[in-house]
Amino acid sequence: MSDPIESLTKAAKQLLEIEQLLGGQFTPSAVNSLPEVKLPARTAAVANLAPGDKSAALDAMNQNEVKTCTLCGLSKTRIQTVFGEGDPNAKLVFVGEGPGQNEDESGRPFCGRAGELLDKMIGAMGMKRSDVFICNVVKCRPPENRNPMSNEVEACWPYLMRQLQIIAPKVIVTMGNPATQKLLQTKKGITGLRGNWQPLPELADSIGGTPVMPTFHPSYLLRNYTPQARSEVWSDLKQVMTVLGLDLPKDK
Ligand code: URA
Ligand code: SF4
Repeated sequence: MSDPIESLTKAAKQLLEIEQLLGGQFTPSAVNSLPEVKLPARTAAVANLAPGDKSAALDAMNQNEVKTCTLCGLSKTRIQTVFGEGDPNAKLVFVGEGPGQNEDESGRPFCGRAGELLDKMIGAMGMKRSDVFICNVVKCRPPENRNPMSNEVEACWPYLMRQLQIIAPKVIVTMGNPATQKLLQTKKGITGLRGNWQPLPELADSIGGTPVMPTFHPSYLLRNYTPQARSEVWSDLKQVMTVLGLDLPKDK
């Protein structure tokens, strides 16, 4: 049985993270109501690796292939690759665009200001960073933080596909335009796509149909730190919590 003090501390921390995410303003759920969840049907059975095998498969890909990868020009300018991190058995995978300077220097995804905000988003959901898996479309930093070019995304694509096949998450959250447009194979913008479940197209064996929730990138949120944008992201995350069976805090 879980320690009652521990669960109260966790609940209090979650409320604090929600408050921080929302900028100190609680948005009552009556005002910020959730759209009806219409989950796509999975079109294929998900891969069923045991947790230990998932961890080993991800480690092997990272150590033997990604760390030394020279498949695209980003290998020439990176300090190091950023494979992604988290629970190999996660039910939820967050996908961003590509490493920035902090990530290139540390080798870890989302560890700068955008990462702090992502941590708050995860905390508001009642989870920790180590409960989810966080990765990017490209594993090496594009110089001057430009968007990754299509040949770079193509070269790196099989790694992301294999990460998703190994982890076989219940839900994928794409953050921002590059990750959303590439994973959903669309040219539509994030503003129109966010908040609506989409099935992952048949991009690779066994992952087609995985429910995808597109939302704003935390870097966008930092630039547009408005109550509306923040409550939109929170509404998207609440939909994800519902599908994952996580308790929604009352009136938030
Ligand atoms: N932005 C991203 O898209 N990914 C990171 O890892 C960090 C910032
Ligand atoms: Fe290899 Fe991807 Fe890095 Fe390009 S971005 S060098 S494909 S790991």
